[in-house]
Amino acid sequence: MIDKQSANALNSDGYLVAPCPALDGSEIQQAFRAFIRREREHQLRFLQKEYGYAYDGFSYYGQTDSSHQAHDDLISTFVLSEFYPVERFPPEFHGFLNSRWQEVVQVVRGLETELLTQLDVPGLLDFYLHNVGHMLSNNYYPPLQQFTTTAAGNTRLSAHPDASLFTVFPFGIDQELELQLTGEDGGTTWQSVDASDAILLYPGYLLEMWTRGEIKAMNHRVRLSADRAAERFSFSCFSLPFPLRKFEMPGRGPVTSEEYFEAYGALF
Ligand SMILES: [Fe+2]
Repeated sequence: MIDKQSANALNSDGYLVAPCPALDGSEIQQAFRAFIRREREHQLRFLQKEYGYAYDGFSYYGQTDSSHQAHDDLISTFVLSEFYPVERFPPEFHGFLNSRWQEVVQVVRGLETELLTQLDVPGLLDFYLHNVGHMLSNNYYPPLQQFTTTAAGNTRLSAHPDASLFTVFPFGIDQELELQLTGEDGGTTWQSVDASDAILLYPGYLLEMWTRGEIKAMNHRVRLSADRAAERFSFSCFSLPFPLRKFEMPGRGPVTSEEYFEAYGALF
């Protein structure tokens, strides 16, 4: 249960650790690994451009036309969502989507609804309940020894805020994630997050825009690992508006889902 105190942590620290254990991520990791191991020809059948909304689909290291990752980020990603039917996604994910996806979304929605109730931002819970769905970004970081370069800022994944209302890690987090925290004097520092079996949550740009900057999107990155032979997985769930919705954005007037993504994309 997210109480007032936890909700306040979001305001003071910029993120919060949910008071419930992470879900078992072994099934999604197995499914994603099976996809990652498939031949490139199979993977390319599910590129982002084959979907066309938000970030759904496959993006790979070196790709220059993905809106989900920079070309020099040392990762491959696959974004699943409830914006498309299960059959549109690669067969490797069908078992997970048919058996576990609803449970994951339910847990994430429960946490977000409790948090939004505590935050009590005018109109936001109503917007969330009527317009917001979920996507899951599956992120695979191959061993660093496979690369001769690094991502921007000498990282494995370059710094960015997410497009989401909230980003939630329902299966816990591996080490090397770093959050950019703001101190009382307004200065910022990068802080490492320990690997954890807890559910971490932080705001994305949609919450920043909705609150007109009162709650800032968390800037984050993944640092280089000391172990150059180690691969890394992460699974982050984004709350985002369904396609073709039109809603009132405080201070901006009516905005469509597509216009929102355009505004987020203009940050880069
Ligand atoms: Fe991110």
